Amino acid sequence: GSDGAMPTAADNSLKLPSGERLPALQPLVNESSDAGRFVGSLRAAPVPVPLWGDGAKTTFWAYNDSVPGPLIELWEGDEVDIGFENALTQPSTIHWHGMPVPPAEDGNPQDPVAPGQRRRYRYTLPAGCAGTYWYHPHPHGHTAEQAYRGLAGPIIIRSKQDPLRHLPERHLLLSDLKLDAQRQIPANDMADLHDGREGQFVLINGAWQPVITLAEGERQRWRIWNATSSRIIKLALPAHEVQLVGTDGGLIGVPQPVDSVLLSPGERCELVVTGRFKPGQPAGLLSQPYERGKRMHAEQEKDEALAGIVAYGMRPTLALPASLRPIEPLGAPGFRRKIVLSENMADPKAPFLINGQSYDMNRIDGTGQVGRIEEWEVIADAHMDHPFHLHGTQFQVLARTVDGIWEDEPFLAWRDTVNVPAGGMVRLRFVQTLPGLRMFHCHILEHEDQGMMAQIDFL
Ligand code: C2O
Ligand code: CU
Repeated sequence: GSDGAMPTAADNSLKLPSGERLPALQPLVNESSDAGRFVGSLRAAPVPVPLWGDGAKTTFWAYNDSVPGPLIELWEGDEVDIGFENALTQPSTIHWHGMPVPPAEDGNPQDPVAPGQRRRYRYTLPAGCAGTYWYHPHPHGHTAEQAYRGLAGPIIIRSKQDPLRHLPERHLLLSDLKLDAQRQIPANDMADLHDGREGQFVLINGAWQPVITLAEGERQRWRIWNATSSRIIKLALPAHEVQLVGTDGGLIGVPQPVDSVLLSPGERCELVVTGRFKPGQPAGLLSQPYERGKRMHAEQEKDEALAGIVAYGMRPTLALPASLRPIEPLGAPGFRRKIVLSENMADPKAPFLINGQSYDMNRIDGTGQVGRIEEWEVIADAHMDHPFHLHGTQFQVLARTVDGIWEDEPFLAWRDTVNVPAGGMVRLRFVQTLPGLRMFHCHILEHEDQGMMAQIDFL
């Protein structure tokens, strides 16, 4: 592992127990009883987890001994105060992925918490930020390892005005697990460092191929997190009726019927799933083949089951409102930038670049203005897809290229992560509302750690 030993390969003969009921995410306890205030504690430490049923244990790194980390449920307007204790042997931070928190509270690589140390993260949630978020470490050079060893957890920010509050809710946090023949989590090998790590198992809420219950006609709201290092997951539920109702930053304007959703690492979505059990179609949740330009690992060639779905009778179909919440388009930009993501395999010290440079946490790559609309053209001048993520705010995608031709986005949505396919371009707009240093990077965390990150100081 982190001791510099030779990494060991994945063992493809391993099988984890499967078919258990989808585990519920464990909530983080609110230590405050004051309305509008959330006080919690997170401790990052190694923990042996009995995954196997035969007494064998796999050591993860986890928040509060839980894989994934506990679910933090917040409300718009909440004052949040979370204590963090780093019981790892590496520096760490907690980054509040996608949330509008001040940079000094956002777990930037410049603010590491040393092994054995503690700090508090404090921020107040603005109105209108309801959505599905997550938290994970962001220390310089160690983000991928800490995340793939288990440090990642879900956040839901709720709004009092939630048009879908009548629907039963399910939570599915997807993470990736690679295991060696000793059933332990090995360090990254060359292929992982290049392509991004993919293990033998995609876990949902820490379980492999769990089972979800759904009645014929029943309508459920699913929040889904892609907390894997590098899997671009094409999600599909071919037997059922599926509407996309939310993205990273909460609900979209109107429900969009979809056949599949491409969810890149770091991204979240909300789906309304209506049980239909169409004959001849697999009943479960699948990941469908998607080519992301890997060079050292094979691409996924056939459908893979992520979760089973079992029918349990019939239920009346609850109403799905025709409109969910208005999203105003951001207006004409006051500033434009081009962001080029590229690969440079000739230089093993700087293989992944943004605008020709490898990340330097002491270099500021540009300045911006708080309150000014920026328009970015993000270009993957690359052989691989690179999912692009910006800290501090949500953006609107205006257009993206499909086979080299610009296509307008079919609907408005708030996002903080968007896949930029190999050779493709994405045009987006945003406004930063809080001053300070904001990172942007590829969310294949191996690429981020190896330099595909940059930072702009918003003044
Ligand atoms: Cu989820 Cu800078 O990352
Ligand atoms: Cu990348």
